[in-house]
Formats: sequence, structure tokens, C-alpha cells
Amino acid sequence: MNILVAQSGGPSSVINATLSGIIKGYQNNAIPGKLLGSLNGIQGVIDRNIIDLTETFTDSDSLNLLAKTPAMYLGSCRYKLDESNTKDYQQIFYVLTLLDIECFIYIGGNDSMDTIHKLCVYGESIESKIQFIGLPKTIDNDIAVTDHTPGFGSAAKFVSSTILNIAHDAFVYNSPSITLVETMGRNAGWLTAAASLSRNDYFHGPDMIFLPEVEFSMTTFINSIKEKLQQKKNLIIVVSEGIKDSKGQYICQQASKWSVDSFGHTKLTGAAKILESQLKSHFDFRIRSIELNVLQRCYMHMASQTDLDEAQRLGVESIHVALEGLSGIMLAFNRLSTSHYAVDIIPVPLKDVANHEKKIPRSWINDAGNHVQEDCIDYLLPLIQGEVELEYRLGVPKYVDIKHLQ
Ligand code: F6P
Repeated sequence: MNILVAQSGGPSSVINATLSGIIKGYQNNAIPGKLLGSLNGIQGVIDRNIIDLTETFTDSDSLNLLAKTPAMYLGSCRYKLDESNTKDYQQIFYVLTLLDIECFIYIGGNDSMDTIHKLCVYGESIESKIQFIGLPKTIDNDIAVTDHTPGFGSAAKFVSSTILNIAHDAFVYNSPSITLVETMGRNAGWLTAAASLSRNDYFHGPDMIFLPEVEFSMTTFINSIKEKLQQKKNLIIVVSEGIKDSKGQYICQQASKWSVDSFGHTKLTGAAKILESQLKSHFDFRIRSIELNVLQRCYMHMASQTDLDEAQRLGVESIHVALEGLSGIMLAFNRLSTSHYAVDIIPVPLKDVANHEKKIPRSWINDAGNHVQEDCIDYLLPLIQGEVELEYRLGVPKYVDIKHLQ
């Protein structure tokens, strides 16, 4: 069975763990054929930019190193398949047929699940026998049907740990300060909510958390800051890159320059900077904004072992379902228990996943819309457990070579 794998969308710390799981599964089942990788997602299929993975990772050491290498060994793309442009579909099926591919596995987020679903539908329309399997990944945790997504736990562990470190820094001066921290996550506030996991017995966690699920009002924001300053002098506020005002406009769009990607998503960046400049016109003390930016999705030395293990399991399992002949599905996590955390992996129809965004339920957010409830914290906590042990060389982490992407 010849299998083609590709990775797509925004990176995460554990997307290569899923790839290593696929390679492991392929090798363990001694499948006759080739395991190929497309460079830069679906774009690599269109351009016939394909590499052979069968010979690349032949021993357990190289596979382990791949699993602990951040971002994407196969590179990525943001390429939207347009239903009205049959040329792309024809070219993709031409290349898949030429390479004698029987199964195409796409590891990605919401947009990538849309892509693989479209390919599956097109394949059925031309009576192709090629199987299409989606594997979820995204730090945004916004894919429907699955309990959570690989990549999220590691990003959440980075966000919560970073907030705690920032708190230690913020409390050093005996003078007032406001530190604003901006997280990624697009239109879902999961990663921003994970900042709440920074709390311990001497730090209560962020003073306020602003999520895209709740309309953002600048007036309410300034007033609540004034109120909080009556009680304490150093405030830590966490905001999502995707917060929107009452007109549905992203706060970051108040900056003079913003743009959209090929899926029509606004490139969200700079919300905390906008809030910083607003606050500076009201208060005359230390106010700082920190955008965590790409660090939260590639900070391998703060990855969650739970996340990494699950990402790898997903890859191994995809080979089982490929051999069973399944197609048009994504593998999802089904949470069995939170107190004794356990998940199993189940196939779900791609049509139930594509084009839906999973957001934080309103009941998991407080009435004021500026913090999360205990239910949310209970859900998040198991996902950040466990530390990944890395190999180091001359003081910096040792990763798999990515010369082929440069
Ligand atoms: O979807 C994952 C994500 O990291 C989002 O949280 C973020 O808004 C977006 O990707 C950034 O995308 P890019 O790397 O294309 O700018």
C-alpha cells in the first residue's frame, strides 16, 4: 500500500510526533509499498514536490528525534482548494494516480480538514478508490467533534508557564504596573484560557482574561482595570489575538496595517499593543504588552508529554484505519475520564468536522466575560501534564535536520 502524507496550516510542537507515529505504524505493519511525503502540504502534490520517507527514518533513534522536533518536517502551506477551479483537483488526482497512491493522510487544522474533505468528495465523484484520512492538529484547539487537538496541550503548557514567569518579573518593583500578554488562537479562546493554569498557592493567575467568545468593550476594560488597581498594584491581563468589538471588528484591525491569508482569515496580531496604547492614555506608570507570537507553537522545550504521546498515537492509529480501508474520516480524541484522564481514538466523518469552529462554551466563562470558570480549568489541566526530555548539543536542543525546507 503506497501512502502519501502531508502537513498543513500553522505549526505546533508535536505535529512531527504524529508524522513519526505514521512512519512507526507503517514500519510495524511491514506494509509492502512506499510511504511518501509531500513538501508544503497540498501545494507539494500540485507541484510534485514529493519525498520518500520509507528510507529516511529507519531506526527508533531517528524516529524519536523526529517526534521531538518542533513545527513541520514536511513544511506547510495555506492553500485553499476552490471548488470552481477543477484544474487543481485534476492535477492532484493525476499526481496521486501517477504515484500509485492508495491513501492520502493530511495532518492539519480546520482549513486542512476542509481540503481533505473536498478531495474525498471529488474522489467519489470520479469513482476514485483513493482513501482520504484527516489527522487533527492545531494550537487553537478549535476543531469540532474531537475533545481537543494535538499541539494545543503543548502550547497551553507554554502559555501557562510563561504567565507564571512573567508574574515573577512583574512583582519585583514596588510601583504599579500592567502587563498585557497576547496569545494566538484565532476565533477560539482555548489558548488564552490556558493562562489560568498558571495559578498556584501564591499567585492567583491572570487578573483578567479576554476571549474572542465575548464581545470586547474598551470602556468596560478601562473601568475594570481602574477597579482592580484599587485592590492591587501589579496587574497581569491576558488577551486573545481574536478579541472583537460590538461591531464584530477585530481589535487588532485598529492598527493601520492588517492583511488576510488565502482562506480569507485576517492575520491576527497586535491586539495587546492596541490595548497598551489605550491604557497609556489613561495611566502614567509602567505598561507593557508582550505578544507570545510563534513561540507558543514551536517552543519544544516546554512541550507537554501527554500531548506528544497522544499526537504520536494518532499517527500509529491512522495506519490501522488505512489498512481497514476507511476513508472520508478524521481521527478524533474521545475523553473517557477527566479525573483519571484517559482518551480513546475514534474515526469521525470529515463532513462533521470541516468548516466548524469549536469555541469555549459560554457557561465556562464568568458572568463579567473576563475570566474562565473551574469547569474550563478542569478540562484544560490534564492536557499540559508531563515534561518532554530532550537531547541537547552544545547547550541547545538537538533536532532533525530541515535543510530540505530552506
Ligand atoms: O491556526 C494556527 C495559528 O497559529 C493561529 O493561532 C494564528 O492566528 C495563525 O495560525 C497564524 O498563522 P500564520 O503563521 O500563517 O501567520
